[in-house]
This record gives sequence, structure tokens and C-alpha cells, in this order.
Amino acid sequence: MSAKLYLSGNLELPGDKSITHRALILSCFIKGEMLVEGALLSQDILSTIRGVRALGLKIKISGAGPSKHTNLLIRGGGIETIALGKKPFVIDAGNSGTTMRILSGMLAGRLGVFSFDGDASLKQRDMSRMLDPIVSMGGQVTYQGTAGKAPFTITGGNLTGGEFDLDVNSAQVSTALILAGLSAQGKTSVSTKAKIRDHTTRMMTHLRLPFESENDGLKITVEPLQGDLRARDLQVPADLSAASFFMVATLLLEGSEIELSDVGVNPGRNLIIDVLKAMGANIEITNERNFGLEPVVDLKVSYTGSLNATNIEAEHIPRGIDELPIIALAMAFAKGDSTVHGAAELVEKESDRLSLIVQNLKLLGVEVTRNGSTFTVHGTGAIKSGAAPKTGVWTTAGDHRLAMMGQVAKLVTHGEFEVEQPECVDASYPGFMIDLRELTCED
Ligand code: S3P
Repeated sequence: MSAKLYLSGNLELPGDKSITHRALILSCFIKGEMLVEGALLSQDILSTIRGVRALGLKIKISGAGPSKHTNLLIRGGGIETIALGKKPFVIDAGNSGTTMRILSGMLAGRLGVFSFDGDASLKQRDMSRMLDPIVSMGGQVTYQGTAGKAPFTITGGNLTGGEFDLDVNSAQVSTALILAGLSAQGKTSVSTKAKIRDHTTRMMTHLRLPFESENDGLKITVEPLQGDLRARDLQVPADLSAASFFMVATLLLEGSEIELSDVGVNPGRNLIIDVLKAMGANIEITNERNFGLEPVVDLKVSYTGSLNATNIEAEHIPRGIDELPIIALAMAFAKGDSTVHGAAELVEKESDRLSLIVQNLKLLGVEVTRNGSTFTVHGTGAIKSGAAPKTGVWTTAGDHRLAMMGQVAKLVTHGEFEVEQPECVDASYPGFMIDLRELTCED
């Protein structure tokens, strides 16, 4: 008989990835010094830091080591100093789609020649979703390899604003176009059809950068920025996406109880809480407050026994896009069938997450049926002892979220399978394995 494992303790989570990227990139518009407390420091963030440093921002990094509450002291000389005298300018965004898309948008209206490249995964991803609109604003984009993909070069400047009704509910694309609009002539409007994370406009409000919001925040309009922004310190909430792996592990491992503090619950990305609660999860939410303009809470999560099945409708997918892999793992051990509708965007991530969710759950002996972008997880009702595979490989394709999902799957099933490329968690959570081991207790 193997020892009983459970999670217990109070976990200090890393800072929010989306907010840290935005703090760094929006700092290109500030003149002065801004302290960003509780930021994330991960490989993706280092890609953005390298990018904005090369553009001329001065950044001092201090704090408690990788991934834990890093402080960034950012000094900006104002937007006119960005990329001054540096041509051509090359940005290697590594694995980070957020770095590539948002920085492209910010730079498209600036004078200069900006070349973007990334790792093998990023080179596969569609960049035309933000570059086509930029071209329609008058931006000049050339592709060095395949059209619509990195590597590409933007010759910036002379943009004219436009109205964009996005087909894809993407916060990265929306942010790229909003930031391009700040350096374009006339107004730029960006609309999405569903609610997305609105970290960008919350940070714009924090930095007193004006914009118009209509249709319950689905349509944002900006005008060209007049002058620089004044620096204003910022506190970054803990990352809910990072929290999600520990939440699901706790729900599934008998005897577990964890506390997570200062967790960001932006309404455009809090689907995981709604879904797990609908499944009957034991989650207590307390201490609701704001860090700047971002809502944060403390969470207490306890083992719940077998969860109920639930469905997710397509309109809610953007609010949980990064958590769908770990949500699928919770569904795998729920009572009955759970269907996720219209999850096509999962294919556009660091890997084809849709195919790999199906493939990896099969390794656990869980059936998943897929019909295009909709999939149904046939929950087993409970984790049966002895059902865990002794051998086999959990395929990650170098995707950090699939690797973290795999580590949780391995822990809760007592599996002995191998999680491929475990080090890829460094993209968003370098201390993930240390934290998981630290919380894991044995009876
Ligand atoms: C992000 C938006 C989402 C998300 C990504 C971070 C952001 O991507 O998956 O991890 O910070 O704006 P999409 O914009 O492609 O939906």
C-alpha cells in the first residue's frame, strides 16, 4: 500500500503573469520611477524584461527569488525615448505570446524597425490576428518565413486609428490594438464578443490614461496619447492561474486543506472558481478587496470527495482559457459527463492543448470524446486506487500548463508515469515543483 498523500498549508503564490507583463509594457509610456510590488519573475516575464530594457527602460529586480513576490523598480524616460537611436531592434519573445503580441502593438505606431522572433512553439502560433489589424491601420509588416507567423518585422509609425470588431475573444489582441491606438491618428475602437480579462484598461485607469468604455466593457476606445504618463506604484495580486493547479489537487486528495492569499479574481478570468463551485467544491472566499484596481481575495480550499460533473458554455471559455487543462482534470474524476463547448482557442496556445488534454487523460484511463472544438470528459467518479498508470509519458510538448497539470495528475493518482519536459513550468512558475513538494504531506 502506498502512503497517503495530501496537501496542507498556506501557499505564497507567484505574482500575476498578465499584470506583470502589462506593468512592464505600459511603463514604456511613463516618465519617472514606478515600483511594481509582488511581480512575477519567470521565463515569459524575462522575455518582456529583456524587450523593454532593450527599448530603453531601466529595471531593477529585487525580492525573494524566482517566482516569489519580486519587486520591479522601473524607470521610464517617456514614450519619445523608446527605441531612440536603436535600429533595427530585435526582440526574442521566447515562448511568450503575450510579449510578442502586446509589444508588437505598442511599437507599431513608434518610429523604428522592430523585428520579433520566438522559440519553436511561438513560431507556430498565429500572429496575423493582431498584425492584420495593424496593417489595416497603415502598419508595415513583413514576414521572414511563413505569412502570419514569427519571425516578422514591423516598420513602425504613421498609423491611423480604426474600428475593430474582433472575431477572437483575445485579451492579447485587444491589448495590442489599444496600445497601437495610443500612437495612431484619430480614434481606435476594439470590441470583443465575450468578456475577457481587462487588466489593460484597469492599469490604464491606474496610470490615469483616458479611454472610453461601452457595452459593459466589451468596446474600448482610445485616442492618441498626449504627453507621457506619470509613474504610479502598483501592487500585483497572486496569479489565479498558478493557484488553479493547487486548488484542483487539494479537491482531489483526501485530507487536504490549503490557504491561498491575495489571489487576483479579475472578472474576465475567474471561471475556474465558478466551475469548481458548480462541481460542489469546498472553496471559501474571504477578505474581498482591491490591489489598486484589481479585485483580490483569500481562498481556503478543502478536499471535497467526488465532484459533480458540469458543463462550460462557449461564451465563458475566454474567462477560463488558461485553466481549462486543470479543469478537465477535475472533470476526469467527477461523477458523470462534463462537456466543454467551443474551446477552439485551446488549439492556439503554447501547444494544441485540446488534443493533448484528450491524449493525456486517456493515459489516466479516462475517456474523452471530442467533436471539433467541443469535448466531453467522461468522469470516473473517484480516483480508484491502483488505476494509475505505472509507465507511460504525459505529453506536454513543452507547454508549461500541461506540465503542471501532469504533475498534479501524477500526484493525485499516485502515478509513476513520466511528465515530459518538466522544466517548461519555468515559463510561468519556476518554483512550481518546490511549492508542490512543500505542501505535500504524507501519512
Ligand atoms: C493573456 C491572454 C490570454 C491567455 C494568456 C495571457 C493576456 O491569451 O491565454 O495566457 O495576458 O492577455 P489570449 O489573448 O490569446 O486569449
